[in-house]
Amino acid sequence: MADDQGDRISTFIARLTDALGPKGVSTDAHEIDPHISDWRGRWKGSTPVLVKPASTEEVSAAMTLCAAYGLAVNPQGGNSGMVNGSVPQGEVLISLKRMNKVREVDVLNDAMTLEAGVILTRAQEIAEQNDRLFPLSLGAQGVAMIGGLISTNAGGVQVLRYGMMRDLVLGIEAVLPDGRVWNGLRGLRKDNTGYDLKHLFIGAEGTLGVVTAATLKLFPRPAVKETAWVTVASPTKAVELLQLAKAASGGAVTGFEIVPQLGLQLVLRHIPDTRDPLPSGLPWRVLVELSLPREEGARDMMESLLADAIGREIVADAVICGSEAQKAMVWKIRENIAVAERAHGKALKHDVSVPVSRVAEFMERGAALAHTMSPGADVIAFGHVGDGNIHFNITPPPGADQERFVEQDGLPLSKAVHDLIASLNGSISAEHGIGRLKRDELAWRKSAVEMDMMRAVKRALDPDGRMNPGRVL
Ligand code: MLT
Ligand code: ZN
Repeated sequence: MADDQGDRISTFIARLTDALGPKGVSTDAHEIDPHISDWRGRWKGSTPVLVKPASTEEVSAAMTLCAAYGLAVNPQGGNSGMVNGSVPQGEVLISLKRMNKVREVDVLNDAMTLEAGVILTRAQEIAEQNDRLFPLSLGAQGVAMIGGLISTNAGGVQVLRYGMMRDLVLGIEAVLPDGRVWNGLRGLRKDNTGYDLKHLFIGAEGTLGVVTAATLKLFPRPAVKETAWVTVASPTKAVELLQLAKAASGGAVTGFEIVPQLGLQLVLRHIPDTRDPLPSGLPWRVLVELSLPREEGARDMMESLLADAIGREIVADAVICGSEAQKAMVWKIRENIAVAERAHGKALKHDVSVPVSRVAEFMERGAALAHTMSPGADVIAFGHVGDGNIHFNITPPPGADQERFVEQDGLPLSKAVHDLIASLNGSISAEHGIGRLKRDELAWRKSAVEMDMMRAVKRALDPDGRMNPGRVL
């Protein structure tokens, strides 16, 4: 029986190699290795074969063969996901990394069409070369690829102004589980012609098909960014500052990130060449970024915003970054909190969101829960206040076995944090997705009606359940 299966896989690989050529297929363990574990080294998987199509036609050929042989498929981009969605568990692994062409830049339409394997930093550069902005911006941008960013509906640090990946996509091209190609690459801002199918694939984490290309929105490049680093006494003050900043800048706030004192200290300890721009005993910092179309008046706008906030006792102290190097430093601190936290040790992690109006309440009640249920534990709550998305992480109490805490002893606390989130009408996964990590919890957290609708969509597009099985649903 096992031999029969082995023979089938060998024939499959031989036919795949005929269709894609030797460059498109690999069974070399050395080459496969980086594709079968996640970047944090938390999950390890396996695959019988790595498929590397260079075109949509080749993806289609590979998917048709997978369908013929009844084989499950794991599509992979930069493999920088956070929820164990992109590491294969025995499925045929289709990497989109060779599909990295720029198909079109339509400047007048403020749109560009890129293949799935284009890395995010390159997408940003292409926009810039055309005097435009592609605003998606996140820590993994040097490895994350367009297809994966679409499949996971990536977020990051400019969502409050430009939205998540879903908001940046005009059209997509996808290969269905049976190998058919859907060309939905329409660069239209208005298209009311029935169900908007692209949205099914955005955030589907590869469970409905393989995204092979996308038409993405471009924006005017801001002429100037004003960046400030401020100290506040509480998350309540941070949310008050957000309202003030939005009103004072006419909606030009592109970054609004909260940093706790402990997060800052961990960055200063673990990340080389970092320094505190505004030493203070206060428990919170906020990074405020305004993006403006004109240099003239920009600094005045930030100065008067901060003066007003200090006058109203919302902000205690503030520094405006006077150079690109200073801006880079405050962003470096912010972007490295998760990295520094990992260097510090393990933590119970929660990527949660609530309406912005309830962020402060969540942070206070969440911290109280942590301190009651796990005395001595530290809370490192940071991130995208402007989106209502907080990374709410809890370190093991002193003396606790770290592994045991995150895998076992801390789980009742995690459940309590998510219960609190549910009671505030929030989400247990704001931007990192579901993957295998939160699949079981999703099934009982969502209503039966919502799960039924999701399963119906899955059955309609992937009746054999071969696309990234075990993720999301
Ligand atoms: C961040 O905003 O820094 C990340 O989404 C958090 C993380 O990597 O855990
Ligand atoms: Zn984040």
